[in-house]
Amino acid sequence: MTLTADRKLFEDCFMKTFHIAVIAGDGIGPEVIAEGKKVLATVAADSGEFAVEFTDFPWGSEYYLQNGEMMPDDALTTLKNFDAVYLGAVGYPGVPDNVSLGGLLLKIRQGFDEYINLRPVKLLKGAPCPLKDVQPADIDMIVVRENSEGEYANAGARLYRGTAREIALQTGVFSRVGCERVMRYAFSLARREKKTLTSISKGNALGYSMVLWDEIFKELSAEYSDVETHTLLVDAASMFFVKDPSRFQVVVTSNLFGDILTDLGAAIAGGMGLAAGANLNPEKKFPSMFEPIHGSAPDIAGLGIANPLAAVWSVAQMLDFFGYAALGAKVVAAIETLLVEKKTLTPDFPGGTAKTSDIGTAIIEILRRKEL
Ligand code: NAD
Ligand code: IPM
Ligand code: MN
Repeated sequence: MTLTADRKLFEDCFMKTFHIAVIAGDGIGPEVIAEGKKVLATVAADSGEFAVEFTDFPWGSEYYLQNGEMMPDDALTTLKNFDAVYLGAVGYPGVPDNVSLGGLLLKIRQGFDEYINLRPVKLLKGAPCPLKDVQPADIDMIVVRENSEGEYANAGARLYRGTAREIALQTGVFSRVGCERVMRYAFSLARREKKTLTSISKGNALGYSMVLWDEIFKELSAEYSDVETHTLLVDAASMFFVKDPSRFQVVVTSNLFGDILTDLGAAIAGGMGLAAGANLNPEKKFPSMFEPIHGSAPDIAGLGIANPLAAVWSVAQMLDFFGYAALGAKVVAAIETLLVEKKTLTPDFPGGTAKTSDIGTAIIEILRRKEL
């Protein structure tokens, strides 16, 4: 179905309506996205402030096996008029990962210039943490990952294929514009929230790309002189994520480092089942995309036990981006209550026996309690 600008305008006359394109994708994607949709639909209805309309797209690895492509050629044109994309997970055994991810997730991130990947690493009360002597207040950071270039630009070549001297070249793409815009976003966030900003790079070994990154960070530090800044090499930063996570507040880093560090962040802040990410085009020239950061988890797909809290948290990020920050905060608070009460948890948490589909229902019950 085509979503035209005229239809959007018409619907907004009655009630502001957010049109969400849903790509549930592969494996546990559809299972966790169903819960997020339930929560978002309830928040919209109960708030009375806006409506949401979901349009599901059957794109992903199964679609690839039938059609030879992860999504149709004109997918970005189809998605362009939506207010947001809500994505489950992509990638499944049977389709090479570089084909599935390159043909869908990365195509959307790059095609819609979603150059900010915002990933909270926040230990909620009640969430399991493998670190000793760490309190929730000690892990409360937001990672701003560059999301449009770097090592993910897929610039490179394969030479002498199939011969003994076969060569692969993978070029990191670091532009001044690309570095500056993600850093400005992070500096503004740190300034607004009165937090410190840490840049994580690797200028000691990557003498071109990361040296440019470090130079631009230094230039901008002078411009945003009210923001307390720190710089760390990525190896040392990984160590500090584990040994002393309280030193991080806002973090800005490159595409690859941000990918790896946020899985580490997930591990210290409750696990992959809780880690959410927003792919933002801050100028709103294109739709932004909201997703759990985990993959399709083939090992548990179809069992109905996947943890959908990351997908629910990404709904909170969507609400925030739409301008309903208080409602977004309410959703995160509901997740925290669920974790503290420990009555309805999936098996990835100690003692959890609930099904995926119980979680959305439990979150809705908590949201409807008066005190929240
Ligand atoms: P994964 O995140 O799918 O799984 C890693 C481990 O975490 C598995 O043991 C899995 O069971 C567990 N896990 C992940 N999410 C969970 C949840 N919500 N609840 C409970 N347990 C959960 O990572 P992987 O195994 O490296 O990748 C599997 C596939 O997903 C690959 O094809 C990969 O390329 C793809 N992938 C896609 C995305 C995405 O679409 N955003 C992200 C990462 C990986
Ligand atoms: C993520 C994922 C993706 C990434 C993959 C699947 C391409 O790991 O969102 O963290 O590396 O960006
Ligand atoms: Mn990742």
